Amino acid sequence: MTLPGDTLDYTMVPRHILKDQHEWELSKVSQENWIAGFWPGILWYDYSYTHNPKIKVQAEKYTDSLHFISQLPAYDHDLGFLMFCSYGNGYKMTHNPAYKDVIIRTADTLATLFNPKVGTILSWPREVASKGWPHNTIMDNMMNLEILFWAAKHGGSKHLYDIALSHATKTMEHQFRPDYGNYHVAIYDTIDGHFIKGVTHQGYADNSMWARGQSWAIYGFTMVYRETKDKKFLNFAQKVADVYLKRLPKDYIPYWDFDAPDIPNAPKDASAACVTASALIELSTYLPTRAGTKYRKAAEKMLESLSTSHYQSRNINNAFLLHSTGHFPNHSEIDASIIYADYYYLEALIRLNALQENKRS
Ligand code: GLY
Repeated sequence: MTLPGDTLDYTMVPRHILKDQHEWELSKVSQENWIAGFWPGILWYDYSYTHNPKIKVQAEKYTDSLHFISQLPAYDHDLGFLMFCSYGNGYKMTHNPAYKDVIIRTADTLATLFNPKVGTILSWPREVASKGWPHNTIMDNMMNLEILFWAAKHGGSKHLYDIALSHATKTMEHQFRPDYGNYHVAIYDTIDGHFIKGVTHQGYADNSMWARGQSWAIYGFTMVYRETKDKKFLNFAQKVADVYLKRLPKDYIPYWDFDAPDIPNAPKDASAACVTASALIELSTYLPTRAGTKYRKAAEKMLESLSTSHYQSRNINNAFLLHSTGHFPNHSEIDASIIYADYYYLEALIRLNALQENKRS
């Protein structure tokens, strides 16, 4: 990726490079733009590895451009992606107390979407009226529990931990089918909190396994185990990972939906592979050697595949990766380079590197 110069507008962040394009399309930082934290996150990961002070300056400037979001009421659950990939990674690298304040304030805002009757966060308030879904919780929301756990551990309210735990528990109990594939969206009743039905938004069908949704689940439950140390989440993360691994094509990179009707001609989703690889590297560290090795080796295979000339962008464009799918049913970002694929690719490589360094020392 090119190092941005000082003349840049820091409120514009890379979003994607579509199949027929060669340059990043930029998008405005806003609460509605869920991807806006990934670019500062990439810069923080870059800095964590290179310790290049010029990268740090850019990471700080792009991170600052999200600050105003921490002062707004909640738009939706994506506050976690937005503020934890930026400020969260920034805090880990700098211990800047101002970053911590932003994270805790944002976690408090995210908590306003929690419905105690249901026991989960309302992921998309806007869909209550437009779709007639009384309370909706999407699998992606599992990722955004991390900011709640973190805030509770770093001086925020204990209530944030309780909310995250409740959300994970209810999601585990209702949002999965018997084969451990998940519904993208769970609809709950707001009067008595019961699960009404599971539907899809970005997948092929209500009962299909949307690749990135399953990746969010693998990553989310692994993280919930890290934060709670409750073995039921560790077991569950393995079950959710196992169905994903069992159904993968030979190159370890999933089609955008495991049940897409035109497989093997369906587009792939490299972003799901990046999220899963990163999650499996972490999962492998919580398990006894044999089970752990299985997940680490699977993650290595994913990263090897992603690092071939088929998936790496190399001289085609200046993203890291090609072949991700954003929203197939919406006909958007199909077979594209997408910023969150690059973010989780980098995260997975850094995690694998740390694992290998630990083994050597
Ligand atoms: N969180 C939105 C997506 O995975 O596309």
